[in-house]
Order: sequence, then C-alpha cells, then structure tokens
Amino acid sequence: MNIAIDGPAGAGKSTVAQKVAGQLEYVYIDTGAMYRALAWGVSHEQLPISDESAVSALLKNNKIGLVRQAGRQRVFWNDIDVTDQIRSTEVSQYASIVASYGPVREQMLVLQRQLAEQGNVVMDGRDIGTHVLPDAEVKIFLTASSRERAERRWKELREKGTETDLAELEKEIEERDRRDTQREVAPLRQAEDAVLVDTTGMSIEQVVDHILQICERTG
Ligand code: C5P
Repeated sequence: MNIAIDGPAGAGKSTVAQKVAGQLEYVYIDTGAMYRALAWGVSHEQLPISDESAVSALLKNNKIGLVRQAGRQRVFWNDIDVTDQIRSTEVSQYASIVASYGPVREQMLVLQRQLAEQGNVVMDGRDIGTHVLPDAEVKIFLTASSRERAERRWKELREKGTETDLAELEKEIEERDRRDTQREVAPLRQAEDAVLVDTTGMSIEQVVDHILQICERTG
C-alpha cells in the first residue's frame, strides 16, 4: 500500500507523514525536501533563479539523496548534508520557484517514482495524489487555516530560539501557496479521491490517529 499526503505549506505534512510511516513501518519520502535541495543548489552555485534551463540542467548534473540516519531523514546535495540549511525562509521561497518549472518537475517525477518503487511508502508533497502516485491506495489532503499554519511555524522557530514576526510568516506562507496553486504544471490541488483533513484545532496525535484509521479502513 502507498499513502500520498498533499497539502499547502506548513500544514504539518512532514511531521504527520513521518509518524504515520513510523507506526506502519513504511518508508517516508519527503518530496518537498527534494525541491528544497535543488533550491539550495541554485543558491550555492549562484545561478539566477529565473533561468529555467540552467536550473533544470543543474538538477540533471547533480544528485539529491534522501538518507535515513538514526531514525531521521537527512537530505544530501551530492555529498553535502543540507538537511538543516534547506529549512530557511530563502530556500522555501526559492523551492516554490524551481518547483514551477516543467523540466524540473519532469525529472523529479522520475526520481520520486523510483523512490516509491519499493512500495509501502508514505510520500508527502503537493502533487503526489494527482501526479506522482495517482494509484496510491490512500490519499490525504491535509490543510489548516493560514493563520494556524503560521502560528505553528512561529512556535516551532521560537522553540529553536529564533524570534520571528507572525504576520510576516503568514505572508510568506500565503505567497508560497499562491505560487504552488497557480503554477501551470502539476499545481497544488486536492485529488478527486483524496480525503480532506482540516487540522485546524487538532493536535498532531489526533491527526495521526485519524489518518491511521483511514488507512485501516482501506487496508
Ligand atoms: O513541502 P515543502 O514546504 O517542504 O515544499 C517546498 C516547496 O516545494 C513547496 O512550496 C512547493 O513549491 C514545492 N513542492 C512541490 N511539489 C511537491 C513537493 C514540494 O511543488 N511534491
């Protein structure tokens, strides 16, 4: 069985997907991290982000790795561990720009399907249920209000010792959502056969339990 979890920025997809994968002993694949790694590469190589063919060639000539180490997923750009660096605001915005390029998405689709070939994966992103794994047995569309998503991110950053402006965070999230839903290739949208889970006001545990119940009904 494969499980696809899609939804807008900051809906808690990766936290929830990781926990669901852990409970079911499935492999977790974070496709957002792949776009983030490419965005990091663009910045590292000082390429102009607007140069679609240069960005696409960069992906072709480099390797993105998702490696499980000590129970955590680590992200590599060739042999550089970029796990922590790809979470910056700049990389987030850059990721949604490189993700709007058709030739980039075509390559990512091939890589992501290869990763899912083993079966029993939980994959999260924006187009998993609609494009990458259209035959996934379980499809979830995870969302929450943009204010709540910004508040969660704000709390997460504060716990790490970074003070940020909540309104600014909400604006950034909305900007990324706008880019992800309005792009021409594989825009963010709920697959027709996906179950909508609005997590506003729900705890992580409640969301995980809810998804596990949906999986149980399907399996
Ligand atoms: O999920 P995350 O916020 O890490 O994703 C970063 C960016 O990568 C998103 O804003 C989106 O533009 C892009 N993305 C995508 N398709 C996916 C996963 C991520 O376009 N399947």
